[in-house]
Amino acid sequence: MQVAAQKIVVLGTGGTIAGTAGDASDNIGYTAGQVGVQQLLEAIPGLAKAAGGGELVTEQIAQVDSKDMDHAIWQRLSERCAVHLADPEVRGIVITHGTDTLEETAWFLRLVLDARKPVVLTCAMRPATALSPDGPQNLLDAMAVATAEGAHGVVAVAAGTVHGAEQVRKVHPYRVDAFDSGESGPLGWVEEGQVRLARDWPAAEPLYPQLPWSRAGEAPPANPASAVDWPRVDIVLSHAAASGRVVDLLAADGVDGLVVAATGNGTVHAALEAALLRAQMAGVAVRVASRCPLGRVLPRPGDALQAETQGLGAVKTRVSLMLHLLAARHRR
Ligand code: SIN
Repeated sequence: MQVAAQKIVVLGTGGTIAGTAGDASDNIGYTAGQVGVQQLLEAIPGLAKAAGGGELVTEQIAQVDSKDMDHAIWQRLSERCAVHLADPEVRGIVITHGTDTLEETAWFLRLVLDARKPVVLTCAMRPATALSPDGPQNLLDAMAVATAEGAHGVVAVAAGTVHGAEQVRKVHPYRVDAFDSGESGPLGWVEEGQVRLARDWPAAEPLYPQLPWSRAGEAPPANPASAVDWPRVDIVLSHAAASGRVVDLLAADGVDGLVVAATGNGTVHAALEAALLRAQMAGVAVRVASRCPLGRVLPRPGDALQAETQGLGAVKTRVSLMLHLLAARHRR
């Protein structure tokens, strides 16, 4: 029997969108992750209509300032996404999230979920108690994306703009319009509740189908957060007067992978590079991302360290490498 997919699931993780300040004119001295996701939704007139009149279901996955995002929350979030995506009654998922690490969570979900329905992250730069909060409009816009004809894949919506998980980056610490999609430009815009696409919806298939959250059309097996032995992947920065000391210490401490945020076209300070080569020889997986916010690293023949060539930047490259190492463990 065909079931009409009407339900929109809203998963709350905290962030400024759920933040409160003592003074309504204070947009920086607030505490993130205070208001529950159900309460956030109840405060927005017209939200049910924006969700196409279907049922709105909320779940509080976490209540954190996203600077404190961790792998256990990612696991819980992806497990719940996988369960809801497999439910034929669910039309799409909206996730409320802090802006600071939204791009990392979006990329993680992009890599692990079979998102044949839309998974829409949204956020706010101003707390829920602000005189003029941006969260309510962002939530309305996220609903428009979650219910748009043909929508699928993991995307982010903020300030009326729709970004793909691969491209989205936070580029401003304060401005309400704090996100950018770099050279690709945004996926589209939300205008008076209507989505106008500039490009096709992103691919839905997971890049790591062997991981437990990625099975098409079925809920993942019960898998408590403690069960995943996350590979440890850290980021180091190549900068003027860099040394290799931190890399030697991390390697001695048992790190599984290292991403270097390199200068320009993937170049690394000689002292740091020597230490990264030592770490690689000792079995640490190393990837090179550029510090430059635009463009892609063009690899050179004979490069001793592997460059990330998609233009992901260091924080998303860290997520990719961690999942690559995790998937390799699942293959064994
Ligand atoms: C956070 O990322 O949780 C705090 C900052 C924000 O959401 O803008």
